[in-house]
Amino acid sequence: MSIIAVPRVAVIVVAAGSGQRLGAGVPKAFVGIDRHTVLRHALRGVFAAAPAQVVVVAPEDRQGDALTEAAEAAGDRGDLLRVVAGGATRQQSVAAGLAALWADIDVVLVHDAARALTPADVFDRVVSAVDGGADAVVPVLPVVDTIKRVEGARVVEAVDRSALTAAQTPQGFRRDVIAAAYATAPAEFTDDAALVQAAGRVVRTVAGDERAFKITTPGDLERVRALVTPLAPVTLAPVVAAPRVGVGTDVHAFGGDGALWLAGVEWPGERALSGHSDGDAVAHAIVDAVLAAAGLGDIGTHFGTDRPEYAGAHAAAFLARVRMLVAEAGFVVGNVSVQVQANRPRLAGRRDECERVLSAALGAPVSVSATTTDGLGFTGAGDGVAAFAVAVVVPAPAP
Ligand code: CTP
Ligand code: MG
Repeated sequence: MSIIAVPRVAVIVVAAGSGQRLGAGVPKAFVGIDRHTVLRHALRGVFAAAPAQVVVVAPEDRQGDALTEAAEAAGDRGDLLRVVAGGATRQQSVAAGLAALWADIDVVLVHDAARALTPADVFDRVVSAVDGGADAVVPVLPVVDTIKRVEGARVVEAVDRSALTAAQTPQGFRRDVIAAAYATAPAEFTDDAALVQAAGRVVRTVAGDERAFKITTPGDLERVRALVTPLAPVTLAPVVAAPRVGVGTDVHAFGGDGALWLAGVEWPGERALSGHSDGDAVAHAIVDAVLAAAGLGDIGTHFGTDRPEYAGAHAAAFLARVRMLVAEAGFVVGNVSVQVQANRPRLAGRRDECERVLSAALGAPVSVSATTTDGLGFTGAGDGVAAFAVAVVVPAPAP
């Protein structure tokens, strides 16, 4: 399998804004450009650049959707992806992204999802400038219009445009520089470079790109729609003969530390399960079922307790790796059905979200159902959670 080394560069894609000025009725990052959203297009440039940790900052209630979009864009770079909830202002959203960076990261790019058509080479240019010794780097475009300073409707004077540039994103920073500036930010700034400059750092420029304009108004959306190169449609592999079936079960007891993670999502306020990873019995049952279907052993074969990188890992990490293992063995997953036995949490209200998160990570439809056991057994007594999964894999179609 291909193992991507832990990157030193991270891209924080802020996509948590509501898009008031666009006024599309949904958050701007989730507005469709063609058959794909603003966010999905923005991530195309991000994932076409050199490998980096990618942190997508999404509206609190859209994290599942963001993960679906982002996992699709990430392809085999899914391991490098995280989705976190944003804040009330762009600056708070960037701060949430900074908090999710891996320890090894030393160059941080902050990018507006709303600059959906930004080409990959802008990212690479910004990273090179930071690597070349700059603390902070902004891609800029010359201002082409004649600029006037006004008071109300009256022109006061012409402004010399040779001294002006228009700032874009991704803006890049040495990690320690942006972390320190954010830790002490005295106010809200219009962009990250301004914040870092207020902290006394020198900001350098590199060439931006006309395609990196920000979608702000309905007119911008028209412009982006006229420019976009359609993405290849998502094609699901056709089901072919000789499917193979696998079964998996898992049990975890309540009593872990921190928050409950089950079926790929966090359950605030619910008791945590114990286990080497996050104790997500649903994810582990799916892993066993899929591996069994492909004849690849079981969870212990690939994710034993001797693998420290899976300590505390969540479903997305397990399922993304299983997806790769299965692909290497020449199969694609047809579908998975998993049933949870538990008194709590009540799965019903978030079933769709669980299915979306698990399906996105595995790259195949996962259906989730839940039941209680009439008070019988350990699940009935509320001591723990059990999960049962069945998976079908089929031989991968010839390339
Ligand atoms: N952004 C964010 N969190 C916020 C506000 C903005 O992550 N609380 C992101 C947006 O999703 C966008 C980028 O910052 O990708 C630039 O912001 P802007 O273009 O202003 O987007 P919105 O705030 O969504 O739009 P508007 O100001 O029109 O409401
Ligand atoms: Mg805004």
